[in-house]
Amino acid sequence: MVQKLSNDDRQSLIDLANEARKKAYAPYSNYKVGAVLRTRSGRVYTGVNIENAAYPQTMCAERVAIFKAVSDGELEFDVISVVTDNGGSPCGGCRQVLSEFGMDTIVLIANGEGKLMKELTVKDLLPEAFTPNHLDNPKS
Ligand code: THU
Repeated sequence: MVQKLSNDDRQSLIDLANEARKKAYAPYSNYKVGAVLRTRSGRVYTGVNIENAAYPQTMCAERVAIFKAVSDGELEFDVISVVTDNGGSPCGGCRQVLSEFGMDTIVLIANGEGKLMKELTVKDLLPEAFTPNHLDNPKS
C-alpha cells in the first residue's frame, strides 16, 4: 500500500529526523545527521550517523535507517527524510543503497531548523543507476 504524503507527514518526518539527530555519534566531524525512513507498510525507522576512530568505518544516518528496516523484513520504502544543520544532501553511497530498493522513493532534505530545503526522488539523485535489473538474477 502506497502511503500518501501530506504536508503534515512531511513535517513530522522531518521533525522526527531532527529529534533522532540528537543521538548522532559524530565526535570527529561534529556533523550530526538524522534520517527517518517510512516503509510502504507505514512503519517508520530512524537512523543517525555513527562515526568511528577508524574514520572509514563511519556509517551514514540514511543507511542505518535503511538497514534497520531491511533487517526487519521491510523492502519497500516510500519516503526518507534527512536532516543536517545546513540541509546537506545524501552521499553517493547512500543514494546507491536507496536505489537498490526503488528509484521512486521520495527524499526530503531539511535543515536543522526543520525547514524542507529539497524534495526529490532517488531517480533524481542517482540517474542512470546500476540496479538489480542489471544483474542476471534481479530480485523478484
Ligand atoms: N553523513 C551522513 O550521515 N549521511 C550522508 O549522506 C552524508 C554524510 C555523515 C557521515 C559523517 O559522520 C558526517 O556526516 C560527515 O561526513
